[in-house]
Amino acid sequence: MTPYEGTVLIAGATGFIGTHLARFLPHVRVLTRDTNAARSTLSKYGISVSEGIVKWAPGKSPLDASVLDGVDAIINLAGVSVADGRWTKRRKRSILQSRLDATKTLISALSSTQHRVQSLISASAVGYYGSCGNQFLTEDTEPGTDFLADVCKKWEDAAQPDTADIVRVVTPRIGIVLGPDGGALPKMAFPFKLFVGGKLGNGKHWMPWIQIDDLVGLFNHLLTSSISGPVNATAPNPVTNAEFTRQLAGSLKRPALFPVPRFVLRLLVGEFANALFASQRTDVTKAVNDGYAFRFPELKSALHELY
Ligand SMILES: NC(=O)c1ccc[n+]([C@@H]2O[C@H](COP(=O)([O-])OP(=O)(O)OC[C@H]3O[C@@H](n4cnc5c(N)ncnc54)[C@H](OP(=O)(O)O)[C@@H]3O)[C@@H](O)[C@H]2O)c1
Repeated sequence: MTPYEGTVLIAGATGFIGTHLARFLPHVRVLTRDTNAARSTLSKYGISVSEGIVKWAPGKSPLDASVLDGVDAIINLAGVSVADGRWTKRRKRSILQSRLDATKTLISALSSTQHRVQSLISASAVGYYGSCGNQFLTEDTEPGTDFLADVCKKWEDAAQPDTADIVRVVTPRIGIVLGPDGGALPKMAFPFKLFVGGKLGNGKHWMPWIQIDDLVGLFNHLLTSSISGPVNATAPNPVTNAEFTRQLAGSLKRPALFPVPRFVLRLLVGEFANALFASQRTDVTKAVNDGYAFRFPELKSALHELY
């Protein structure tokens, strides 16, 4: 896979997905709330940033449009983590607001510069769909009605500039990203390592996973593609939670003996439990028809690569 050669401004480059992208792409400028912390995180991952590290304060002050000088594309990943901590009212507000602030700040800088940025890849999530049982979910499927669906809908809407000729916008609906050093997988693997892992509830809900190298590959593909709008960013073969559990336990050479009832998860993590039980059987025809070839279409090979 040939990395995109243009200069990419990445907001949220210090996070799990961002560090993988910043390592892969050769010409990156980083937008961060804390330049010292960003420098130290990125150097910990051996990432050298060729186009500079720039401070921003989304929601507090506008972005100086000169940050976009020489930039060919923007990747927007910024937002308060959905998975860390209980969903208190305050936390839910900041999960939504941080994403809207970051996205609107970028759109407003794009609208105020003469410099033409070709594409904005602005993250969204499969949470857009809510929980849909066995239904196949294409990008045309209606949004769900729960908290995450509302966040994703507003987040995607915020990424649309007033006039379409400002920039091509893609909003990848990212699934559960599997990587060795962040995201959900280390948390999911932990109980198995202690021999107390198991499926969630009856395990019938569909999990739209994607291996981190494929997510980086798909973003790289989207930077040069001409498609726009939402794109399901998940592997072509989602599996049920029961199947995921079986394969994860197999990869770790551990048993999967202890199903976790929904009420226990609700006690532990509150409303976030709903997201862990959401069933999303995504269809990736749009990405495949656009020419993206998945390296890890099957969970078995994805887990094999990671463990
Ligand atoms: N990981 C997944 O499985 C997954 C699945 C679906 C969707 N997504 C979405 O993809 C995006 C990236 O995911 P990730 O796992 O890489 O997230 P992450 O590790 O939590 O990183 C997110 C980045 O956002 C920035 N950020 C945090 N709080 C912020 C705030 N209040 N205002 C502005 N920026 C803030 C931080 O960058 P600085 O500290 O440098 O500013 C941070 O590095 C997220 O928006 C996430 O919702 C992820």
